[in-house]
Amino acid sequence: MGDITVSGGKNTAVAVIPAALLCNAPCTIENLPDIEDVHALIDILRDLGAKVDYVPDRSLTVDASGATGYHVPFFQTKRLRASYYLLGALLGRCGKAEVAYPGGCDIGSRPIDQHLKGFVALGAKIEDRGGMVYAKADRMTANDIFFDVVTVGGTINVMLAAARAEGNTVIYNAAKEPHIVDLANFLNSMGARVKGAGTDVIRIRGVKELHGCTYTVIPDQIETGTLMIAAAATRGDVTIHGCIPTHMEALSAKLLEMGVRVTENDDSIRVRPQGEQRAVNIKTQVYPGFPTDLQQPMTSLLCMANGVSTVSETIFEQRFKHLDELRRMGAKIRLMDRTVLIEGVREMYGAPVTVTDLRAGAALVVAGLMAKGVTEIYETSYIDRGYERIEEKLRSLGADIRREKI
Ligand code: EPU
Repeated sequence: MGDITVSGGKNTAVAVIPAALLCNAPCTIENLPDIEDVHALIDILRDLGAKVDYVPDRSLTVDASGATGYHVPFFQTKRLRASYYLLGALLGRCGKAEVAYPGGCDIGSRPIDQHLKGFVALGAKIEDRGGMVYAKADRMTANDIFFDVVTVGGTINVMLAAARAEGNTVIYNAAKEPHIVDLANFLNSMGARVKGAGTDVIRIRGVKELHGCTYTVIPDQIETGTLMIAAAATRGDVTIHGCIPTHMEALSAKLLEMGVRVTENDDSIRVRPQGEQRAVNIKTQVYPGFPTDLQQPMTSLLCMANGVSTVSETIFEQRFKHLDELRRMGAKIRLMDRTVLIEGVREMYGAPVTVTDLRAGAALVVAGLMAKGVTEIYETSYIDRGYERIEEKLRSLGADIRREKI
């Protein structure tokens, strides 16, 4: 039994911080998670010449008035996937950006063709300069952009590039994730005119200048979900505070279907055990469907559910690297194409396991909480990219988990 407060959203933070480059006045961002991705972006913004004041767990203030840089080198971009938002933000700021192809978790091919198509539609010319994307526009001008696939990153990048472009940009087939709405709210509090975020058509009327603002980012949907899954996995009675329950409906529905009790209040969710947990079928989808970012931790939970579950991953074709590790812990799992068949087992056993990507890390932490004996998790830096002090939070809920330096 315990109470925990969720941190600010990672995938919002990594969009909002580059967006602060779009104006020449201080922007203060509150409720940022204290994670590696945020630290990496702070370093990048400072290298570009922005003044950044960061007080972890309080606020980050970016004053980009002195930022003259437009080049983001490979060693910086490989630290995080979201470095690609520097392309949209710098194009929007000064019509010029040179950014290496992004790093981040290896969960399948992650092209950025739709981002580039959007920039070209807004008047940019794109060159591939040996692993660097060079984008330049004499003038950014609005356009209609129809995405061939629903892309979170592409939608955000085009919003950034279009906020100050001349005229009205319309993005069709836009992503609808909560962090898209949060970015739109941030841009609008800087004086931008973005409408329709959260639907599949976003309209952006470009403005000449943006002004500074103070903004609080939304809570992390995926951290909330991971904590809900961890509570179910340990049969704990946990209340997660500071979250937005409507963002969690796809997961809450699946947990209820499994037989876990989930009750929602305005800004908290309580997860309680209730007898046996049943196998379920899951298919990842774009929001408001079941999020791909919770697929891996959910797979761990289903390893001990009664019956045979299936988990189909439709967004990233290689988001299965945690499965070998779960097998080493006693899980009965088979991968067929992009669907995992999970036969629930009565017990799992602690083992040394290695993290291969952020959410695989979360999945192994959940499995470690469920398993008998000690689980040693290696390569935890992946987890620190996106979860703020995960071991402290779980320990405060009664988990026996600690970080050791080796
Ligand atoms: N895609 C293309 N072309 C593009 C862009 C995307 O074909 O130009 C494809 C991708 O290959 C993928 C699908 O479209 O199959 C969706 O990709 P999307 O662009 O939506 O994902 P992303 O921007 O690379 C963000 C999050 C991910 C999250 C996905 C889906 C950030 C920094 N990353 O990635 O977060 O899984 O959206 O919701 O916001 C994580 O937090 O662990 C994580 C990986």
